[in-house]
Amino acid sequence: MNKKLAENQAISQNEYLSLTAELMAIRKRGDEPLAFVRTYGCQQNVADSERIKGMLDKAGFSFTENVEEADFILFNTCAVREHAEDRVFGNVGALKNIKRKHPSVLIALCGCMMEQEHVAQRIHDSFPFVGLVFGTNCLHEFPKLLYNSLLYGKRQFLRGVTDENVYEGIPIKRDGNFKGFLPIMYGCDNFCSYCIVPYVRGREKSRRPEVVIEEAREMINSGYKDICLLGQNVNSYGKGLEPRPNFASLLKEIDKIEGDYWLRFMTSHPKDCTKELIDTIADSKHISHHLHLPFQCGSNKILDLMNRRYTREKYLEIIKYAKERIPDLSLTSDIIVGFPGETYEDFQETLDLIKEVEFTSLFTFIYSRRKGTPAAQMEDVATDEEKSKWFRELLKVQEEIAAKRCATMVGTVQKVLVEEKCSNKDGILNGRTTGNIIVEFAGDESLIGSFINIKITKARNWILNGEQIKE
Ligand code: 5AD
Ligand code: SF4
Repeated sequence: MNKKLAENQAISQNEYLSLTAELMAIRKRGDEPLAFVRTYGCQQNVADSERIKGMLDKAGFSFTENVEEADFILFNTCAVREHAEDRVFGNVGALKNIKRKHPSVLIALCGCMMEQEHVAQRIHDSFPFVGLVFGTNCLHEFPKLLYNSLLYGKRQFLRGVTDENVYEGIPIKRDGNFKGFLPIMYGCDNFCSYCIVPYVRGREKSRRPEVVIEEAREMINSGYKDICLLGQNVNSYGKGLEPRPNFASLLKEIDKIEGDYWLRFMTSHPKDCTKELIDTIADSKHISHHLHLPFQCGSNKILDLMNRRYTREKYLEIIKYAKERIPDLSLTSDIIVGFPGETYEDFQETLDLIKEVEFTSLFTFIYSRRKGTPAAQMEDVATDEEKSKWFRELLKVQEEIAAKRCATMVGTVQKVLVEEKCSNKDGILNGRTTGNIIVEFAGDESLIGSFINIKITKARNWILNGEQIKE
């Protein structure tokens, strides 16, 4: 390796991108090198894929939605639930024919699934047409991995990397141009007993506040109207940094940036959600009146087994304070149904909590056993049929709550960020309120990406209808 490359990691990776561009100019199948990137799972994966696309863009790739014509195929995978993993295996299997037809295609897999030993082994043994596998903590190594895979054609597996460094300066190609994610930290230290994330994404590490603030400023100056700060537990932002910033102070600094934009964040953990954070939202100019605060289960017995480290009483206390300080606050949450040991009585406590809080919407999941997590060893008391029945009951209760909440908004005027055309209705657009509620209204496509005021005329379950108010 040339000395300059060996000395400087950043230059080295950029150099690999240029070398890849030269290589792909010869190797491409069509007029230009094409990449197909599919992302499974959460927003963190979306943000990682945006960085991978940034690097591919620098390496001369354009992007295609048609996997058949791609020179490079990447699946960024999710391990949170078994269902997501099964889908990935099925879809990877289907790539075999593409590789047979076009041997020059490089097929790669990355993301959380690849950090599980048994998954990587299965890919290694049963999917020989997958040429490159890399884990969640080596994104900064991607240019080198890509180049070497393309040049030498030898299978490469890089995973299990533990690294306390945060690598900055990776190029980004964001999917949207007015809504975007901004990761502020990586990994998780919480070890909720059901969750695979701490094992596949490693320990928590925060980006420096000045880097985050600068990235937010760049996004705002280039027209982003909705910026979502990302982390598995944003409330513990700053751990390990000297001097230690906290999340509320980071929000306050970003909020000072001039412009017409909304600032969101996810995910918050109830054990670390402070009054200072709620006050910061209440007193800010730009922070959305939306709090995603997963409580997972309403029963203290189950919360303890889940290692969540708060009680339902503590959760309800935060919610009470938040509602007092921010009366129009929209609350959302994640819920797991059918955790080992959960009985119908425990589940009833979840229903009671939902009724009490009146969430705008919920992300609901049936518990999925994850190999290597403490909960995987715990005994079930409910059957799969019972769990499905509870799950349906939960959806029904939440549907009524959402409908009731939306109905209270009829007659109000809401600031809405216009997002897209309604796929099945001519001349109708979709937007979202600060509370993340979908609003449908008649309007011209040119409004997409801007804020407008809408008078709410009708509520249909969790969707609102309205009319634009012309100033
Ligand atoms: N089974 C079901 N749901 C899970 N989640 C995390 N792990 C599991 C699991 N093993 C859910 C939690 C978390 C959300 C992102 O996914 O509700 O908040
Ligand atoms: Fe998983 Fe809990 Fe960490 Fe969220 S806080 S990523 S649920 S371990």
